Amino acid sequence: MTATIPTSTAELREVRGPLIGLPHLLKMRRDPIRHNDVVRARYGEVLKLNVFGTTLYACYGMDAAEQILINRDRVFANGPAWSHFIGPFFTRGLMLLDFDEHLHDRRIMQAAFTNDAMRRYHAVMVPHIRTGLARWADVKGPRMYELFKDLTLDLALETFVGVELDAAEKARINKAFIDAVRAGTSIIRANVPGTPWAKGLAARQVLEEFFYTHLPAKRRDGGDDLFAQLCTARSENGDEFSDADVVNQMIFLLMAAHDTTTITMSSMAYHLARFPEWQEKARTEALASGDDFDAITHLELQDRVMKESLRLCSPVPSLPRVATKETSVNGYRIPQGAFVTVSPYYNHHDPQYWPDPFTFDPDRFAEPRREDHSHRMAFHGFGGGVHKCIGMYFAGVQVRAIFHELLTTYRWSVPAGYEWPMDLVALPFPRDRLPVKLERI
Ligand code: HEM
Repeated sequence: MTATIPTSTAELREVRGPLIGLPHLLKMRRDPIRHNDVVRARYGEVLKLNVFGTTLYACYGMDAAEQILINRDRVFANGPAWSHFIGPFFTRGLMLLDFDEHLHDRRIMQAAFTNDAMRRYHAVMVPHIRTGLARWADVKGPRMYELFKDLTLDLALETFVGVELDAAEKARINKAFIDAVRAGTSIIRANVPGTPWAKGLAARQVLEEFFYTHLPAKRRDGGDDLFAQLCTARSENGDEFSDADVVNQMIFLLMAAHDTTTITMSSMAYHLARFPEWQEKARTEALASGDDFDAITHLELQDRVMKESLRLCSPVPSLPRVATKETSVNGYRIPQGAFVTVSPYYNHHDPQYWPDPFTFDPDRFAEPRREDHSHRMAFHGFGGGVHKCIGMYFAGVQVRAIFHELLTTYRWSVPAGYEWPMDLVALPFPRDRLPVKLERI
């Protein structure tokens, strides 16, 4: 499968395609890895696709991932790429900024993601995790994906926003997020009433109003939540966020954290249910460990379970960029203005780097195997380069705190032979929401 990469510009290959979107999307829906293997073998290491109202250059493999994400020549831009999908709804979020402006804002935001800040977020989230999980015992016909989604949103409102909301207000904000996130996959990409796009635009307004309403009190009173931290965050140069920056970044952060963490935990729960021996090992580790910040950050086996679950199901399955000038990837010509994509979801199933890639095996992340070190980009579920996820440790803390509580209070299972029906058209999610049998320990 690996091609010899030409060195001079004259030798560059022309990318084949475009494949037409709908048949491709349908096959993607059924079996994304196999479908991509087939088209990669047939058309080459870079392939044009007509999907989501544009032409995408799908770039396969770890070398392409490294070139695009590390972006040494500063050729690939995030803003125009992500804006196409989520721009009007998540405008000026950190991930949508580029180059000097991105660096400037990232340096400010970093102040809200220090180790000390993590400890404080952890302290805020623990009681809510306990009360949230205690309620699961009464849920009839529990579906893990839904339970995690609700819990993550509740936690986000506590640890991110730090504002007490009644049930109706929570539901309104929840709906606004869902509408804003869904809007990116709308087929009609204009403000036509009734379309997901129009709902996304309305949702953005709801969210802006919500954050602007609460902002003065946050600036005045401070607090241990992320919203308050962004209000006071300063880079080493003393730069800080304006009100509009805080609102834009908060809306983006909630989105960036919510579905990704939900999917990660669902994947962990799914694999631990399918492989109960791993669930028992993780439980033994959790029972032997404390639940304070230092203890949960040392849950080594759980860390490997999380990474392996992320490898098998990357919450952000595809990372888009736009080429700001003509360049090449994998020896193929990429014209100026082209949309390129890197797919962690696909690349994480490459047997060259991940032997037996469909098998759930957390030990592949342990010494001496360390398959995640088989290539600089072998594992890029959190991206790579300057846009690498700033919330990676936050996600780790939250997931571990939740799984520590979950493993020590419940046992869950799925019927023998169950395989979750994964939908991959936008962000991955199980179409059946992952029904499980959940028992108190
Ligand atoms: C397991 C959960 C998560 C996964 C798998 C994940 C994945 C990613 C990926 C792949 C990117 C890079 C996107 C790109 O290069 O185009 C990214 C960026 C980002 N993530 Fe996460 N994320 C997770 C959780 C979080 C959380 C909890 C937060 C916030 C608290 C967060 C905030 C961000 C931000 C702000 C960026 C943009 C960084 C930049 O452009 O400099 N993420 N994430």
